[in-house]
Amino acid sequence: MNLRVPYFDLTAQTRTIRPELDVAIGRNLDRGSFCLGPDVVDFEQSFARYCDSAHAVGFNSGTSALHIALLLLNVGPGDEVITTPMSFVATCWAITYAGAKPVFVDVDDATCNLDPARIEAAITPRTKAVMPVHLYGQPFDLGAISEICARRNLALVEDAAQAHGATYAGRKVGSFGAVAGFSFYPGKNLGACGEAGALVTRDPALAARARALREHGSTVRYYHDEIGFNYRMEGIQGAVLGVKLKHLDAWTARRREIAARYTQLLTGTPLKLPRVVPRGEGVFHLYVVRHPRRDELKKFMEANGVGTALHYPLPIHLQKCYASLGYQAGDFPLAEAIGRDCLSLPIYPEMTDEQVDIAAGVISRFFQ
Ligand SMILES: Cc1ncc(COP(=O)(O)O)c(C=O)c1O
Repeated sequence: MNLRVPYFDLTAQTRTIRPELDVAIGRNLDRGSFCLGPDVVDFEQSFARYCDSAHAVGFNSGTSALHIALLLLNVGPGDEVITTPMSFVATCWAITYAGAKPVFVDVDDATCNLDPARIEAAITPRTKAVMPVHLYGQPFDLGAISEICARRNLALVEDAAQAHGATYAGRKVGSFGAVAGFSFYPGKNLGACGEAGALVTRDPALAARARALREHGSTVRYYHDEIGFNYRMEGIQGAVLGVKLKHLDAWTARRREIAARYTQLLTGTPLKLPRVVPRGEGVFHLYVVRHPRRDELKKFMEANGVGTALHYPLPIHLQKCYASLGYQAGDFPLAEAIGRDCLSLPIYPEMTDEQVDIAAGVISRFFQ
């Protein structure tokens, strides 16, 4: 179906920077450095600076970066990691791959992010780390959660997969926790031309171990100090990301403009609109509204040429793959409510004001 306002359009962004991409990819082809190499190193240095951090380590996905983030903190079998049930499932893959057990805590109804007030009740002697998510690109309550982690001696790992450039108290997310993981999946605010991710840390020893773990556990070729992984970032993705990072602030500014326009046009409708934690500034990876008649609204919007999506219809504690954890419907009512009533509106930097007005207009007509 040809929508007047597609939910997302990756080709629009590529068109705006195609000549720069051609040069960067061409240079990578000429260099022949396809796995890691100088394009990845250059990007890692720029991205660490961008995140107000010291080290960035490139990976082949955000999932691998988060997996290694937990291994760096020696999270393993017998350990528990506190996280949110309202996220993309990969947040939890990292915990499971590390051999640890995810322990869920419900979210804050206004921000949809992990609720700091519920964390302490979930801490046990086995708790090793807390891994909240900057969901939809809006920072979680870094002030309160960092304080709990420091006081209870728990590692803080930020899942910043959706939040490149978001800030809390004026500082970039990813620079607060011991380690943070980012995704550069193509649809992310900073997206590769394929799969990619990175972890960010201030600790040089953790960064060095991450570099070894992503490359078969070796620092000297064919000598393997620990069991490693093939989690290397491709050279071409480093080249692409280096080009795109230069545009990220402008793209984020445009996302914020679109979000502000939606908020202005939709205030006064019965929709619950996105809310950001005090002292946080989000980057609107997604603009998620909420309403109990979500399914009808979604159908109406699509019938009127506006694409939408759901993030996420089923919280992680109710996914079949995690049935063995023993959670039940009703355990996390606020996350479950988001699953039932969330609706993601189209938002991407190349969207025009006219498209935003069309989407908001269709919503207003639905409620008339
Ligand atoms: C919150 C969150 N965590 C983790 C991931 C995993 O990243 P990737 O798809 O790059 O493996 C994603 C994105 O897909 C995500 O949105």
